[in-house]
Amino acid sequence: MCGIIGYIGPRQALPLVLEGLGRMEYRGYDSAGVAILDETGELHTAKKAGALVNLERLIDSGEVALAGSVGIGHTRWATHGGPTDRNAHPHTDRPGRVAVIHNGIIENFPVLRRELEAAGVEMTSDTDTEVVAHLLGEAFDRGPTAGDLPASMAAVCRRLEGAFTLVATHADVPDLLVAARRNSPLVIGQGDGEMFVASDVAAFISHTDQAVELGQDQLVVITPDGYEVTSFTGGDPDFRPFTVDWDLAAAEKGGFPTFMDKEIAEQPAALADTLRGHFDGTHIVLDEQRLGEDELRTVDKVFVVACGSAYHSGLVAKYAIEHWTRLPVEVELASEFRYRDPVLDRDTLVVAVSQSGETADTLEAVRHARRQRARVLAVCNTNGSQIPRESDAVLYTHAGPEIGVASTKAFLAQVAANYLVGLALAQARGTKYPDEVGREFAALSEMPDAVAQTLTLLDPVRQWARELAGSRAVLFLGRHVGYPVALEGALKLKELAYMHAEGFAAGELKHGPIALIEEGLPVVVVTPSPKAQPMLHSKILSNIREVQARGARTLVIAEEGDDTVAPFADMLVELPRVPSLLQPLVATLPLQVLAAEIARSRGYDIDKPRNLAKSVTVE
Ligand code: F6R
Repeated sequence: MCGIIGYIGPRQALPLVLEGLGRMEYRGYDSAGVAILDETGELHTAKKAGALVNLERLIDSGEVALAGSVGIGHTRWATHGGPTDRNAHPHTDRPGRVAVIHNGIIENFPVLRRELEAAGVEMTSDTDTEVVAHLLGEAFDRGPTAGDLPASMAAVCRRLEGAFTLVATHADVPDLLVAARRNSPLVIGQGDGEMFVASDVAAFISHTDQAVELGQDQLVVITPDGYEVTSFTGGDPDFRPFTVDWDLAAAEKGGFPTFMDKEIAEQPAALADTLRGHFDGTHIVLDEQRLGEDELRTVDKVFVVACGSAYHSGLVAKYAIEHWTRLPVEVELASEFRYRDPVLDRDTLVVAVSQSGETADTLEAVRHARRQRARVLAVCNTNGSQIPRESDAVLYTHAGPEIGVASTKAFLAQVAANYLVGLALAQARGTKYPDEVGREFAALSEMPDAVAQTLTLLDPVRQWARELAGSRAVLFLGRHVGYPVALEGALKLKELAYMHAEGFAAGELKHGPIALIEEGLPVVVVTPSPKAQPMLHSKILSNIREVQARGARTLVIAEEGDDTVAPFADMLVELPRVPSLLQPLVATLPLQVLAAEIARSRGYDIDKPRNLAKSVTVE
C-alpha cells in the first residue's frame, strides 16, 4: 500500500521518479506527488488526487518547475485523510525545507499532532504523515540533532509507533536522501553513480538490477555513490544485497492491453518456473528452505495462514496435504489467526502464503506463530520482503512480478508451491514411497502444458461474460477442490466487476443458498471428473439440475468428454483431463477470464479495481 521512490544522481530526477511511480501504481492510486530539489537548493512539490496521470497533466501544464537531480515521489492508497490534493504526499514542514513521503500507518500520530498543534504548528492535511515532516524539520533546525538529517530522522523514527517507510529530502542537505523502515518495505537500487530507494524493485528495474534489502528499524543514507545503513533503535545494521532475477520486460505489458491479461497468459511459465529444480530424480528438494527433513518428520499439524486469494490457495492445499501426509491441516485467515489463541507448539508447521510478502495480517500471524515456537515456512513471490525475512524458511514461487491488483499467476504458483510442501512432508514422513512422490511430481510437471491448453479454450467464456455483464449477481459452486476454486472465482468477480458474487460448497446449497436462485441468475459450477470422482460428480450433477430447474443460467466447467453435464449447461467449458487434486490449476482459469471480461464490459479498469491496492500493509 502506497509506493514510494527516491532518486539521487547525475540525471534529472523527475522522469525517473515518474517512471518508478508508474511501475508502482498497483500499490495505490488514490493520489500521487513528487518533490524535487533544484540546483539552487529550493524544494518544489507537485501533487494531485487521483491516478498518476492527473499528476502528469499538472506537471505538463508547466505550473511548477521541477528540474533537479534529487527527487522523491509517492503514489498513495489513502488511510488517514481522504484522497485529496492536500492529503497527497510529499508533505513538507512549514518553511518548506523538508519533504517527506510515507508508506504505512503512524499509530501514535494523534498524540504527535496534538503536541505540534499545541506548539503552534498549523497542519495543512488530515494525514498521519504530515507530523513527520514537522518533527523532522524541527529536529533538523534545533536541539541535539540540529544540522544532521540522518540523526534527525533517527530521532523522529524513535518516536513513531506503527508501520512506516519514510523517505526525506532537505533543501539544506542536497547531497543525500535519508530513508527509514519499520514493517513496510524498502529496497535500495544501486546504479552506476546513482542510487534509488523504493518500495519495490519494479520502480528502478529499468536502471539497475542490483538491489539491497533492508531489515527492520533500519535507516539508510543514500548519496549518488553509495549507501550507509544503520539502525535507528541501536541494533546492528541489517541489509542484504541481491540481484533481481527478472527484467524490465517482466514489469511491462508486453503488447497485452492490461497487466492482468498478460499475467493470465503467463501462468504456464509461472507454474513451470515455480516447479523447476524442486525434484532431483528421487526427492522433492525445497532448496530455498532451511527446514531439514528431520524437522519436517516431527511435524504433527499444519496451519496455512494467508489472506484473500492466497488463503484460497491454502484451502486447495488442505485437500492435497491431508491426503498425501495424513497430517491435520487447518487453513486460517491470517487476520483471525492470532486473535483466537490457536493451538500451536514446536511440532506445528505454519505455512504463511503471500505473494507480496508484505501483507500485514499474514506478517502478524507469522510473528504470533513464532512466539508460540511453531516453525514457519513462508511461500512467497517477492524476494527480500518481510514475511520470508521473519520466517524460519522460505519457498519462493517464481511467478515474476504481478502488477495487476487481482492475483492470477501468483495464485496458481502458490497452489503449486503448496503442493510441493505437501509432497516434501509426505516424503519426510514416509506416507508416500519415493516412486509415488516421483509420480505426483511428474503429474505436477505436466500441468504447465494443461494450463497452456486451457488458455486456448476460453473465448466462449469471454463471449458469455459479455452477455452476463448486466447481471446483478453470480453464484459459484464447487465440491472438493472445486470449492476453493468457486471461492476464488467469486472473489475475482467481486473485486474486478464490483458485482455481488458468492462461492459455496455445492452440498451446502440446500441448507440455505438455494433460496437465492431466481430466473436468469448466472450460476458457475466447477465439476469434478466423472471417472476419478464418480460419487461427487453425480452429486454435483444433481446440484446443477436443482439450480437449472429453478431458472438459473448455468456455466458448467467440466472435464473434457463429460457428456452427462451438457444437457444441464447453458454454457459448457471443457477442461483437459488432469488428476483430481490438481484440477484447481486449470479450473481457476475460466473464472479469472470471466471476471476480467465482465469487468471490462462494465467499463472498469481491471488492473486497478477501486478501493484496492496490491500490497495490504495495514491490518
Ligand atoms: C485477490 C488478491 C488478494 C491477495 C491478498 C493477499 O485477487 O490479490 O486477495 O491475494 O491480499 O496478498 P498477498 O498474497 O500479497 O499476501
